Amino acid sequence: MTTTIGAEFDSISEIYDSTRRAATEAELKAVSSELSECRTILDIGVGTGRFAKPLSDLGFEIVGIDISRKMMSKARQKGVENLILADAHNIPFKDRSFDASIIIHVLHLIPDWLNVAREMGRVTKNKVAALLRNRQREWNNATNVSGNSSATSPVFPELWTRYAQLREEMGYPIRRNRRMWQNEEEIRSKLPPMKLVKVSDEVVVMNISDLITRFQQRIYPMLQDIPIDVHNKIIQKLLSSIANADHNGKETTSTLREKQIERRIVEELAIWRPDQLRLG
Ligand SMILES: C[S@@+](CC[C@H](N)C(=O)[O-])C[C@H]1O[C@@H](n2cnc3c(N)ncnc32)[C@H](O)[C@@H]1O
Repeated sequence: MTTTIGAEFDSISEIYDSTRRAATEAELKAVSSELSECRTILDIGVGTGRFAKPLSDLGFEIVGIDISRKMMSKARQKGVENLILADAHNIPFKDRSFDASIIIHVLHLIPDWLNVAREMGRVTKNKVAALLRNRQREWNNATNVSGNSSATSPVFPELWTRYAQLREEMGYPIRRNRRMWQNEEEIRSKLPPMKLVKVSDEVVVMNISDLITRFQQRIYPMLQDIPIDVHNKIIQKLLSSIANADHNGKETTSTLREKQIERRIVEELAIWRPDQLRLG
């Protein structure tokens, strides 16, 4: 049996676009030039049409599938037309139906991504593309394209770890099959793409208060599968940890006293030939 957490996006469909940036010029340029010889594209986990809309404006014929009806209704409001409620584990199309398929910010949500990769390979004729984050580069100090050697601040793992610990203490441990970015690392090593295109490498600065607001708004599915009052209590505790870290100043080892957080974002576009994914 396959497990998926995508339907949880129904509950954040209203705020999704305001909490994620629009598809960037660099992302669209990479996708459209790599798929320039393709006309029909299946967008798997199309969501609110963040990519489907600009790609159809560029002339591609896009069909989107998703398991969240509400995310797709946002896409429909933007003018994305060909949308089908379907699970990426069982794509309701015949073999080689599309010139290309794309999957963007979805694979990290799917525990058995290998079956989804197989399905993508099955329904595609020419190229399968996935926009992936390169977490290793984001978390080490390798020099980025602008010559910076900045890495993502450890405040991110610290907040997530504290959130997870508090959930556990309150009797709501994070589900075991929850994975974040390990899938994308595994995909790179188990199914090496025929091409890996660098898309972006940048450092975004945000305030810790903005990060806490994101947690408060429950913009990630991992923050939603607990009762709201428990979630709110956890947020209060996180806020007091921040206040304590502030109070203790330099004596504390906690990263939560940082006010400005640097977040490095490294994105790559992986391209496979469909037959590379039609395993077994
Ligand atoms: C983080 S959003 C990404 C949406 C869009 N690709 C983007 O980049 O904005 C993940 C989307 O994948 C969908 N999803 C998750 N699991 C899925 C599955 N098994 N089959 C189809 N869609 C899925 C979710 O419902 C959600 O709309």
